[in-house]
Order: sequence, then structure tokens, then C-alpha cells
Amino acid sequence: MQIVERIEPLRMALAEPRSRSVRIALVPTMGALHEGHLALVDRARARAGCVVMSVFVNPLQFGPNEDFARYPRNREGDARAAEARGVDFLFAPQPDEIYRPGRAVSVLPTALASRWEGASRPGHFAGVLTVVAKLFNIVQPDVAVFGQKDIQQAALVRALVRDLDFPIQIIVAPTVREHDGVALSSRNAYLSAPDRKRARVLSRAIFAMRDAFDQGERSTASLEALGNAVVGAEPEVHLEYLAVMDPDTLEPRALASTGAIVAIAARIGNTRLIDNVILGIPADAA
Ligand code: PAJ
Repeated sequence: MQIVERIEPLRMALAEPRSRSVRIALVPTMGALHEGHLALVDRARARAGCVVMSVFVNPLQFGPNEDFARYPRNREGDARAAEARGVDFLFAPQPDEIYRPGRAVSVLPTALASRWEGASRPGHFAGVLTVVAKLFNIVQPDVAVFGQKDIQQAALVRALVRDLDFPIQIIVAPTVREHDGVALSSRNAYLSAPDRKRARVLSRAIFAMRDAFDQGERSTASLEALGNAVVGAEPEVHLEYLAVMDPDTLEPRALASTGAIVAIAARIGNTRLIDNVILGIPADAA
């Protein structure tokens, strides 16, 4: 595996596989790699002969009161894990390589970004889409792999390639979970042992809603009441939203149907966690 910190050397290195018509896959990450990230590498590898992973804690997508400074960083561990999983190029730029002084253009999403995560994190998705568009232009991959864990992000990345005509196939890979159901997340590292136990309530709530859907419940109000009751049993877990939404528009739905998304966001102490499932689809085979 080659570690590359600058844009030009990466472009030059990728010219070689590209000249041989080897397909190139990109897996964008912010590092602190866990099995959820590494599972994306497997998906990328299945579709491309050359796998590029980016590790960049993107300052643009963090709000002023968010965790940019304390976000977990682990360069050596990430490099070891990426190499062991078969990444060919690890692109690990410094912020000044990505954002030059005098920067004048951003990618601004429309309505799809204003709800849910966007409502609690103003500017977040503009930061995400700006860096993703830049990574797409730097790497020019044939395919890029994202996780279902961040389902609104995945929907916005699909909108990005559609609306700005990036010739890139977007793959969305199922969420990787701990044995107790908690979705793997770099932010789980912030949780104390008791809070880590409390975090189980997020997946428990959305799984209960999925099970009720499987048993025939179609009323969103009933499903949400069920999920709210599950979360309510953990008073230390502060629910931000729990909703059944349309998979394309992310608008709330009055009636649940196969393919609809159940998404949850909650705070435990200072840590904000998100999770989701797709209704009626076994093991989230997205
Ligand atoms: P990050 O949070 O590091 O996540 C990188 C990718 O890993 C995202 O596509 C995310 O959805 C996926 N991922 C995270 N946890 C996962 C899990 N448990 N199972 C499956 N996939 C998982 O998302 C970002 O970084 C950034 O916003 C980024 C797209 C890199 C732009 O800066």
C-alpha cells in the first residue's frame, strides 16, 4: 500500500492503473478505522482492481460546537488496518492541501439536507458534499462506496452524482454492528461503559419497529409510538428524532412500506449517535 499526502502525486500514481483500464474504487473516511469502514473496502475490492481509501477529518463538516478537535485520530493504526484489508492507496492529506486560502466555491445541497441530521447540524452536509466532490475530482473513481449507517449522507451523495453529473457508481453497504446490535461508529469511543450499554436502546428501538412492520403493522404513528416507548425506558438517552421516511426524499411517511427507512438520532451525555434500518429487507441488504 502506498500512503500519499498530496493531490498531484496521487493523480500521477493513479494514471498508471487508469491507463491499463483498471477500475478504480474510492472509500472516503475520516479515519479511526473500524470494521464498518473496512467492510466498505471489501465492497470496493469486489468491484475494482485498484482501491483508494481517503482518511481526512474534514473541518468543513463540523459545526463550531462539534467535536472536530477531539475527533479520534490514529494515523499508524489506520495505515496498518487499511493495508491489511487490501487498500492500494491511502490518501491522507493535511487540511491545507484540501482547502487553499481564498477558497470561493462550495457544494450547497437543497431541501434533502435541511431535515434530520441537517436540522441539528447546520452546514454539515454542505461540508460533506464539498469534500466528497473534491475527492471525486481528485481520484476520479469509477465507483465509490458509502455506508448505510449514514443514510442521509448516502442519499445526498447519490443526489450529488446525479445532479452534478459525476460519472461514478455509488454503492451503499449495510451497517456493521457489534454483537449487541450497536452500530459501529468512531464516536462510540467517547462513551463511558454505562453509556455504551445505554446506546443499545437505539438499535433496540428501530429493530422493534422493523419487527412490528414484519408482523403487519403499517401505521407510522403506531411504529413510532413503539420505538419511543423503547427509548423512553432509558432516561439518560435523549431522543432527537425517530421517524419512518421515504428512501429517496427522506420525507416522513404516514404509512410504512417495504424499502422505507426507520432512522434514529439520540444524545447520550455529549455524544450524538445515529442509526437506521430499512423496512422489509432482510439483514439490510441495501
Ligand atoms: P466516516 O464517519 O469516517 O465514515 C466513512 C464511511 O464509513 C461512511 O460512508 C460511513 O457511512 C461508513 N460507516 C461508518 N460506520 C459504519 C458502519 N458501522 N457500517 C458500515 N459503514 C459505516 O462519513 C464520513 O466519514 C464523512 O462524512 C465522509 C463521507 C468521509 C466525508 O468527509
